[in-house]
Amino acid sequence: MLRIEGLSAWYGEAHVLRDVGLQVAEGEVVTLCGRNGAGKTTLLRCVMGLHAGQSGTVELGGRSESVSAKRPAADISRWPAHARARAGLGWVPDDRGAYATLSVAEHLALPPVVGPRPWSLEEIHEAFPNLHERRASPATRLSGGEQQMLALARVLRMGATLLLCDEPTEGLSPLLVRRVGEILRRARDHGVTILLVEQNLRFATTVADRHYLLAEGRIAGTFDNADVRSREDEFLALLGI
Ligand SMILES: Nc1ncnc2c1ncn2[C@@H]1O[C@H](COP(=O)(O)OP(=O)(O)OP(=O)(O)O)[C@@H](O)[C@H]1O
Ligand SMILES: [Mg+2]
Repeated sequence: MLRIEGLSAWYGEAHVLRDVGLQVAEGEVVTLCGRNGAGKTTLLRCVMGLHAGQSGTVELGGRSESVSAKRPAADISRWPAHARARAGLGWVPDDRGAYATLSVAEHLALPPVVGPRPWSLEEIHEAFPNLHERRASPATRLSGGEQQMLALARVLRMGATLLLCDEPTEGLSPLLVRRVGEILRRARDHGVTILLVEQNLRFATTVADRHYLLAEGRIAGTFDNADVRSREDEFLALLGI
């Protein structure tokens, strides 16, 4: 579904990603973890086409649910962000990206549909009851956690087939963290593929199949849930937690 090869990224002279390669299979949930400043957000921004200083290849595979046969993988490395969004990439930014002039309901009313299975408003309301209660509110008046939920609701409403989620549980209460976990699992059950930046290892193992560790701009390894559970202390030390 997603294949990244030889990805490097810079901010001016600062070389923050070095020859990164990773793959996410269709229907898989994969996390990207690493210390603060390791380059996780930069990597997601590169995949979304939001970072200018990059080189390497980003390929996006076809969709299985489309009416016709699977499309061949496309090299999207030079596509602008809006074309990547239309191809099914859903970006859930760490800054939430809410528009001050739009209400919660307006954020969810008519986003462009990009995938074969956009969530209906009923599904959104059922999964995010808080957002339904606050539907008339300007989105930027929501709490940080509620805005985080809105960003996630919006990409599901669009029917994105590959979610790029940047720390969607950051700052949420344990109850809301569990709710985000349920929603991500439900999205996965609907065939959505997810690349999730996550620092909370316990949470990561409840939603993901596999984990990449990014250290100093390079992929330091890929681990399954059994590895993470059996070597938790080592991982916490690697993440600087
Ligand atoms: N706009 C920018 N200009 C210059 N340097 C930047 C910019 N954004 C990030 N960096 C630097 O690039 C490196 C990677 O940053 P990035 O935000 O990708 O890390 P991260 O892994 O997402 O960190 P965190 O866990 O804190 O979110 C850091 O050293 C950071 O200081
Ligand atoms: Mg980040």
